[in-house]
Amino acid sequence: MKRTHTCGELRPESIGQTVTLAGWAQNIRDHGGVLFIDLRDRYGLTQINMDMDSPDVLALMKDVRAEWVLQVTGVVKGRGEENVNPKLATGEIEIRVDTFKVFSESLVVPFEIDEYSKVGEEHRMKYRYLDMRRPQMQKNLAARHRITHAIREVMNAEGFIDIETPILAKSTPEGARDYLVPSRVHHGHYYALPQSPQIFKQLCMVGGCDRYYQIARCFRDEDLRADRQPEFTQLDLEMSFADQEDVFAVTEKCMVAAFKAGIGKDITPPFPRMTHADAMNRFGCDKPDLRFGIELHEVCDLAAKSEFKVFKTVLESGGMVKGLAIPGGAEFSRRVMDTELLDVAKPYGAKGLAWVKITDEGYAGAPVKFFDQATLDALAARLGAKKGDVMAFVADKKSVVNASLAAIRNDLGHRLNLIDNNEFNLVWITEFPLFEWDAEDNRWASSHHPFTNVNPEDEKTLFTAELGADSELGNIRSSSYDLVLNGVELASGSVRIHDPKMQTRVFEILGISGEEAKERFGFFIDALKYGTPPHAGIAPGIDRLTAMMLGYDNIREVIAFPKNTRAICPMSEAPGTVSPRQLRDLGIREVEEK
Ligand code: AMO
Ligand code: AMP
Repeated sequence: MKRTHTCGELRPESIGQTVTLAGWAQNIRDHGGVLFIDLRDRYGLTQINMDMDSPDVLALMKDVRAEWVLQVTGVVKGRGEENVNPKLATGEIEIRVDTFKVFSESLVVPFEIDEYSKVGEEHRMKYRYLDMRRPQMQKNLAARHRITHAIREVMNAEGFIDIETPILAKSTPEGARDYLVPSRVHHGHYYALPQSPQIFKQLCMVGGCDRYYQIARCFRDEDLRADRQPEFTQLDLEMSFADQEDVFAVTEKCMVAAFKAGIGKDITPPFPRMTHADAMNRFGCDKPDLRFGIELHEVCDLAAKSEFKVFKTVLESGGMVKGLAIPGGAEFSRRVMDTELLDVAKPYGAKGLAWVKITDEGYAGAPVKFFDQATLDALAARLGAKKGDVMAFVADKKSVVNASLAAIRNDLGHRLNLIDNNEFNLVWITEFPLFEWDAEDNRWASSHHPFTNVNPEDEKTLFTAELGADSELGNIRSSSYDLVLNGVELASGSVRIHDPKMQTRVFEILGISGEEAKERFGFFIDALKYGTPPHAGIAPGIDRLTAMMLGYDNIREVIAFPKNTRAICPMSEAPGTVSPRQLRDLGIREVEEK
């Protein structure tokens, strides 16, 4: 037996027993003749020290260096009150070593393996196998395991079956670029790694599987951020003869179980709901952080009553004005308003931030002289602003106004300490638009993905609308939904199209011509023609869910071997070059970039 106990296990009840432990040497202290080593494994630390009656053992142990892997056998001793370490679960005991064995030695490690050392993230990723030995990463990976395990238990109990779908596949569009894999056997042909199992899970419904799930890896070649990796994991699920309500109920069960298993937190279903239109009007974005108040209000009618040129010009050109009240904001300096908050909004296109303070002396700020008292009072009433607050406005086209004020709102949540970091606020956002106009490519694009059903009330318009930029298509609602957690999109899903005519019409609107649709999705449209049950599904992101539960903004913290923001694995240095031979086999010739 290599060990009788783990390094986190022994308590005073075992005093007097002879035990064998194995683990990594950490924190080696030589107190002139007495040698202390903390032995570490995934479960914890146990202090070992040398039996002074065995000078041979002591001499050998003195060679041991940090991160050597040892096996020690000895007797469990009490530490004596003055030496108890209350911070360690095993802090009341230690092992007097009788014999020990070195399983392997270690080079000098590039950083100390404990919870205290501060190490740059790139360095941690380069030596991820060492970083993983630290308690923090152990904790994160174990929590992730508990979360996926709890989710699997719910899915199994609800009658879902776990089905594996291909990784070498044909393109499944989710709005990102594909990762391509060249075929050796068929030169000039490429597999695409799935951006999600979307098409396959729908085919499982056509295939009568009724309830499918998979903890699925997805691949997307897109710009990376803290909450995005090129490969990531979804709880992917799909159900037949089901609608939005069925999907919500199952997802809520999964979330309840995941929070309990992950961090012992009780969350209560059903989660509140808000339509996409409401979310945009009230919060300026489709993923509002509802841990704090502050709402946006449209003030076009009042703005029109002023002589303020900024507002007038924007309104005349078809734009809009919205504002929000900043509680206690009358205290903010000019610099905070004109520089800091404006800088938050600028990346979203805001050209300025107009503000009016409500002080003891009345209204103050650049726009005040262009308004009469009654209109200022009406603005304050609309925004719910009171004495001591500041009203802030952005005038521009709708998308800029909403995005800018949403960014300012989120900044204020942090700046004014309005957020309780222990709160997990989940909200369903429903009735997303089916299409959005892509001005760059001059065409309609799916808000969710091309397989999303139209909201039944808008079905007729889908077939009658013109295809131009200003057509009614922009107003059509879909049967799609997101689950938002603390202002982050955690899951997306929809009721799917199960009528091939409808699917063909949607491809037509998206500008995917008959020929192209046939080439890319022909097999899928054909499948829909063989008796497709109505079906719906969703996919919560496991990386985001785990990271947020554990309080990280960065999903890399909960991924064993993540990539950096340049999509490189600093450890293996993937992606790498390949031999000319491999390229020849694949029929690929590299051309020099001009
Ligand atoms: P969607 O593309 O919205 O929907 O993705 C669903 C969820 O997956 C997570 N996610 C990511 N996590 C980490 N890195 C990424 N690059 C990344 N991209 C997405 C998010 C997101 O909410 N097939 C549909 C689902 C469906 O309709 O059933 C889909 O993939 O948490
Ligand atoms: P200006 O007349 O450009 O000096 O702007 C007067 C005030 O209006 C300044 O506080 C600007 O930040 C603000 N402002 C300018 N453009 C906008 C806009 N599009 N929306 C809201 N406020 C603006």
